[in-house]
Amino acid sequence: MTANANRIDELQRRLDKIPRVLLGSLPTPLQEAPRLADLLGVRRLFVKRDDLTGLGLGGNKVRTLEHTVAEAVASGADLLLGAAYVHSNHCRQLAAAGAKMGIEVRLLLRRSGDRPVSWQGNLLLDELFGAGIEFVEAADTFTLLELARGRVAEFEASGRRPMLLTLTPASKLLGAIAAMRTLLEIEGQLRAAGEVRSSIYVSSGGPTYAGLLSAARLIGADIQVRGISHQFDTAIQVDIVTGLLAEIESLLRLAVPPVAPDIEIDDRFIGPGYGLSSAAAFDAIRIAGALDGLVLDPIYTGKAMAGLLGHAREGRLTPDDVIAFHHTGGVPALFTCADQLRVGPSPTGV
Ligand SMILES: Cc1ncc(COP(=O)(O)O)c(C=O)c1O
Repeated sequence: MTANANRIDELQRRLDKIPRVLLGSLPTPLQEAPRLADLLGVRRLFVKRDDLTGLGLGGNKVRTLEHTVAEAVASGADLLLGAAYVHSNHCRQLAAAGAKMGIEVRLLLRRSGDRPVSWQGNLLLDELFGAGIEFVEAADTFTLLELARGRVAEFEASGRRPMLLTLTPASKLLGAIAAMRTLLEIEGQLRAAGEVRSSIYVSSGGPTYAGLLSAARLIGADIQVRGISHQFDTAIQVDIVTGLLAEIESLLRLAVPPVAPDIEIDDRFIGPGYGLSSAAAFDAIRIAGALDGLVLDPIYTGKAMAGLLGHAREGRLTPDDVIAFHHTGGVPALFTCADQLRVGPSPTGV
């Protein structure tokens, strides 16, 4: 199956109707990593560099924010709210978007247990970009969403026009829409490199995966999308993705055709839990650094690379395979893990 030019144009036209402000440096490059490909035993490995989307040290949420901030601007919002766990990449990119657009940003950040907050990585950048930061206690993301909705109501009562841009169903759908654009970029870049058949590896809790998969199906691309879960069990994530596919269909007024293999999510690389890294992710980070000068993050892309390496070890990859590894960003969080990552003194003793 080869992607069909008419279907690509049609999808691009529909995506272009969704309001967007330009925040990122797009398209991001697709770079080949031959030494990592050798280690994996595949014909070619490419890395889609969404860590290079530009704004506020980059990441895939810059793409989502192009849509959510456009909605906020259209609705006359004068305050952008973000709620997430303490070292959220989404919140960091939201803080940068607010700075660029000249709109105030307030972040409700959920601390992990009673661990001390380290003013490093994303949190340091949130402050640097001028966001107001409030630490909150919330047992889970549902409680956090309720809390954030409560804050929205309070700001409205005081005469502000706030809009919550994280955790909401609308932000997840627009995250998926943003990832559909990414798939179109990847497909075109692979085609330019002479490749039509490939598998994408991605870390996603649902939106990015649903966007990549739906776009691949809609254009008839011979691209499998393999999700490495950072949070949910496979069954839960399949439900989330299925729900998003239906929402994408109704927003774009397009029927996403089913293809085999279907939704593929591997939940064996989550490690100790959401927002926490794992020994396998640290190993993967070291390997990607040593063999490609590629910097991965401890929570998402490190786990995705651990999944890809795991699949190679299990013999799931073949010497004919072409893999596109989707680097979704998150690199600032690496610096919160310096102690765990450091292998020992360098030969020069520094
Ligand atoms: C670096 C990085 N990768 C992947 C993801 C997963 O994105 P989603 O669950 O929206 O598909 C996130 C989400 O915040 C992220 O920050």
